[in-house]
Amino acid sequence: MRSLPLTINDIDPRHWQRTVAMDIRPPRFIEKIKEIDRGSSGTVWLCRDTRIEEPDKRDIAVKFIPRGPLHIDECVKREVFIVRKLYHRHITLFREALLSPSHLCLVFNYVRGGNLGEYVVGMGGFLPEYLARFFFQQLVLAVDFCHRIPPNGIINRDLKLQNVLVENPNESFPKLLLCDFGFGKERGEDPTVSKLGTLFYAAPEIFFRSTRGERYDGKMADIYSLGVCLHRMLFGTYPRQCKRSEGSSTQWLQHMELELQGDPQLLRRSPHLVCLLTGLLQPNPDKRMTMDGIWEDPWFSIDLPINADGSHIRNYNTMMLAYQKQALNSDYGQSENELTELVQKAKTC
Ligand SMILES: Nc1ncnc2c1ncn2[C@@H]1O[C@H](COP(=O)(O)OP(=O)(O)O)[C@@H](O)[C@H]1O
Ligand SMILES: [Mg+2]
Repeated sequence: MRSLPLTINDIDPRHWQRTVAMDIRPPRFIEKIKEIDRGSSGTVWLCRDTRIEEPDKRDIAVKFIPRGPLHIDECVKREVFIVRKLYHRHITLFREALLSPSHLCLVFNYVRGGNLGEYVVGMGGFLPEYLARFFFQQLVLAVDFCHRIPPNGIINRDLKLQNVLVENPNESFPKLLLCDFGFGKERGEDPTVSKLGTLFYAAPEIFFRSTRGERYDGKMADIYSLGVCLHRMLFGTYPRQCKRSEGSSTQWLQHMELELQGDPQLLRRSPHLVCLLTGLLQPNPDKRMTMDGIWEDPWFSIDLPINADGSHIRNYNTMMLAYQKQALNSDYGQSENELTELVQKAKTC
């Protein structure tokens, strides 16, 4: 596969800045069971919260981020403040942040079925169209919710199959939950100019605009990554990307658009699916399909679930946004002040 002329290290500075500390000493009421994954910011463990008596509620996933200024940076701080705001059936539930002698611990509900990348591999590398659609609908519902959080929305900036968890992989229609807001950002905080995300999932503007220090729209970049997720689910591959050519970025975008239109895998699919995929993966963000466009798309709308009261599924997000506003105004979970103090302590060791 041809790739963009950047390496993963150019995209994610945390890969070369950090070595994850191994000596994890959790708070005394947390029992480590097994390591799930060692990522860029920390290590995720399946743990047991011994304060809780109900057996089905004791399992937790804890992201251990080493204390100290090298690891507790702006991204970690943002992640903590963002996950606190996300209450949604397709997003892993954040329970609390804790400080141990060695780490900042972010505690989430444990999702037992592994991540979507592993699931797709287990299914033979790609999914049947009906299942890819069912998964894509759930991802869109979750991302739409994030994009609508007041005042200007939360952007994820690292949407990929490894950051999506599968709750019940043995069922015919598994439930998905989005995890990892380690690169998340409240839109409009300051201009989005940084190169973040994962190479093959990143929208072209992240390269050509951020190298010039220009702002790009994080919501449109998330939509591109959703397109890459759909492509991966359907074909098991990433969309083909042109090498950065010598010419201007406009010429580069034109090359990419031609390459996409000529993708032989797309040519074998229904016109509606081709239209959706080329809309999502449109290299030029100004011409890319919008979130409203996805909701109106004919391929996306097939078998779209409805709410229990018969209303359109997108209303679930409207309802959850109202609920979230209410919850954040009440004594729900840890307050912003508490979390600020905790993160500050974790930073200074
Ligand atoms: N709540 C959870 N339940 C089960 N597994 C999880 C949970 N959260 C994360 N994981 C697993 O740990 C991996 C790394 O977590 P993630 O939040 O993506 O951290 P990183 O920033 O290191 O990528 C995920 O890809 C997933 O496989
Ligand atoms: Mg991740």
